[in-house]
Amino acid sequence: MTRCTNQTPVFFQRHRIDAAALAEEAASGLLCPDAHVSPKFFYDALGSRLFDAITELTEYYPTRTEAAIFAQHGARIAEAAIAATAPAPVLVDLGAGDCAKAERLFGVLAPKRYVAVDISSEFLQQAMLGLQRRHPAVEMVGVGLDFSQGLQLEADIVGAGPALVFYPGSSIGNFAPDAALRLLREARALCAGGALLIGVDLVKPRAPLETAYDDPLGVTAAFNLNLLRNLNRLLGADFDVRQWQHVAFFDADRSRIEMHLQARERLTVRWPAASRTFAPGERIHTENSYKWSRQGFVDLLHEAGFTVTRCWTDAQAWFGVFLASG
Ligand code: AVI
Repeated sequence: MTRCTNQTPVFFQRHRIDAAALAEEAASGLLCPDAHVSPKFFYDALGSRLFDAITELTEYYPTRTEAAIFAQHGARIAEAAIAATAPAPVLVDLGAGDCAKAERLFGVLAPKRYVAVDISSEFLQQAMLGLQRRHPAVEMVGVGLDFSQGLQLEADIVGAGPALVFYPGSSIGNFAPDAALRLLREARALCAGGALLIGVDLVKPRAPLETAYDDPLGVTAAFNLNLLRNLNRLLGADFDVRQWQHVAFFDADRSRIEMHLQARERLTVRWPAASRTFAPGERIHTENSYKWSRQGFVDLLHEAGFTVTRCWTDAQAWFGVFLASG
């Protein structure tokens, strides 16, 4: 663990960006018979901005629906979270980003310490400087970590607890069920004696699901296609974005949205170490976004070791905010 600064907030860099290893990972996925690339390759600077734009689309219901649940039930959610983390929680924010969602909870939760975890360390450090100025009394710790590879935080980072682990935005949906269970078990270990507050996208009819991931403005298509520009930079590849088409559909059997990039014609992509030819219609699988039933997610939480769960939803039950403890 490298302590990067002794100024407040304290920052720990736990994730080393190894461009060669990332390039190797991307290339090996591209060379598989069923070509695939991790969704983490979406999030270069433009990709992160495109994702922000997605969250403003009318068709992309998760962000505004989760916000509406907090607006409508925030007082009861806070009351339950406070009861589960008395006398004062350490708020552990997974995928903190600009820390805005967690900051909205500061007033009601009065955390003694705020631990923000994100893979994008530079962005996180910037956000935390402003946050610390606005909340000088709260101890703040930033951690640059890719927690999809494991969520172990040293005891001195989390402090005395009890912890309230906060994981909003339904990012848990981007993990396959076995990986989601692993992450929830790690979250459970982190918040023993405390609680987990997590946003989860729920199963719903196909039409709104598919429109949310294939919006008429083409923002999600741009987000998906931008991954090829990122691969060009990372691998030195020669993907031509115009030869590819965004594809998104709901696979009801697996209860997940799948996103792919589909070759419009026969083409060959080259990079210094290798090349691959794609037939017309052949795809690169870029993302899964799992949709849980309310009971299915409660069962998953129990399997991860939580015993008490509560859930708040919107009127259509499109999205759930779960509080789990025990
Ligand atoms: C980040 N994650 C929760 C988004 C989702 O809905 O799965 C990523 C996304 N992909 C396309 N649109 C949004």
